[in-house]
This record gives sequence, structure tokens and C-alpha cells, in this order.
Amino acid sequence: MRIASFVGQKGGVGKSTLARVLAVAAARQEYKVLLGDFDLEQLSCIEWSATRLRNGIEPDVEARAFKSLKKLRKSVQDFDLVVVDTRGLADELTTDISQESDVIFLPTGTSMDDLRPTLALARRLSKTRKIGNKIVLVLSKVGRSQRLLETAKETIAEAGFEVLDSIWPERDGFQADLDIGKAGSEAHNTYLREAAESIESDLLHIAINPT
Ligand SMILES: Nc1ncnc2c1ncn2[C@@H]1O[C@H](COP(=O)(O)OP(=O)(O)OP(=O)(O)O)[C@@H](O)[C@H]1O
Ligand SMILES: [Mg+2]
Repeated sequence: MRIASFVGQKGGVGKSTLARVLAVAAARQEYKVLLGDFDLEQLSCIEWSATRLRNGIEPDVEARAFKSLKKLRKSVQDFDLVVVDTRGLADELTTDISQESDVIFLPTGTSMDDLRPTLALARRLSKTRKIGNKIVLVLSKVGRSQRLLETAKETIAEAGFEVLDSIWPERDGFQADLDIGKAGSEAHNTYLREAAESIESDLLHIAINPT
């Protein structure tokens, strides 16, 4: 069993979205996957999973809400992969979840306003016991400027952190698909599907394979 978590200091950077994208990718490869939702105020993953079931979208992706790590540890033995979604803040639970995870994804936008707090969190986490080099930044909701993207990648590299090769591009169409219980490469639109496929396979590769 592996645990891949999405954490961050900021709200709205794509944690819950990418958690669902990864869960769908894993389920479609026939891994037994569980979405662990630690954001009890929003429960984005729980709501989405219920919508997915209601709309009869296959494969089914199970989601459960968790308040503490103890509960998660007890109930995940039957799964190949647990994808954890967390709240948009960095607290003690963020550290605990990160220590328990095999990989920690930090989604971030390309602006310095997004990168600065994300890199600060990455630095802080990386100094913590059992976390070290399990951190992977993910450029998320990326606009069309190639220059901004390159600069963001350079900034992350200079800070000494790993960044996922593929990016999660900003496209309004992804929102409509999430609203009906789909995610990523399940998009109705060919163009969106292609945009999602490479990040899906990168996320899954890292989530499933021990480094
Ligand atoms: N690639 C994308 N293009 C456009 N909109 C997107 C994209 N990915 C996510 N969104 C939208 O951005 C918003 C924030 O995304 P999401 O809920 O995944 O962020 P989050 O980090 O989980 O936020 P929070 O910290 O509040 O839980 C949502 O409305 C979502 O539909
Ligand atoms: Mg969220």
C-alpha cells in the first residue's frame, strides 16, 4: 500500500482536483485506490465520488472522510494506493500526513505569490524527519505563457526541489467535468483529454513506484 498526498499552504491551487485526477488514473489501471479526504469543511472528494456514483461513471472511485491519521491507518490495508487530499493550510496534520506518505505533491501556480509560500513549506517539510526528499512540486492551473512556466521551473530547480515534468494546464472545461463526477482524461473533449493524459501518467508513475 502506498500513500500519495496533496498538501499546500494556499487554497485553490488544485489539490482536490489533482487528487481526483490521480485517483481516476489509478482506478483506470485497475489499482485499488481510495481517496482520503481530510478537508472536512469542503469534502470536495467525497461529494465528487458520490456524484460519480450517481452518474454511473466507471470505474467507481471510493472516497472516505478522515479526521485523523489514526483512522486512516486502520482502514486502508486493502488498498494499493491511498490518495490524500488536505486543507489549504499547513498545520500539524499536514506534517503528520506528509511523514506518513510515500510521496507528497505540492501543487502551485507559476507566480512568485504562489511559489514563495510553496517553496517555504517545501523547505520546512523537507527538514522534518521521515519527509526528506519525498516532495514533488506540481505546476498547477498553468496559463499559456511559456516564459512564466520556464521561470517557475528554474525557480524550483534553484531552490533544489523536484518538479513534475508535466503540468496541469488551466482550462475551464476541466471544471465542468469535475462537476459531473469525472476527472482529467475522462474529459468529454479530445483536447482536454490529451492535456490531462501526460500529467496523469506522471502522477501515477511517481505515486505507484518506490524511488
Ligand atoms: N486546470 C484547471 N483549469 C481551470 N480550473 C481549474 C483547474 N483545476 C482546478 N480548477 C478549479 O480551481 C478551483 C480550485 O481547485 P481545487 O478545489 O482543486 O483547489 P484546492 O487546492 O483543493 O483548494 P482548497 O485549498 O480550497 O481545498 C476549483 O474551482 C477547480 O474546479
Ligand atoms: Mg481542496
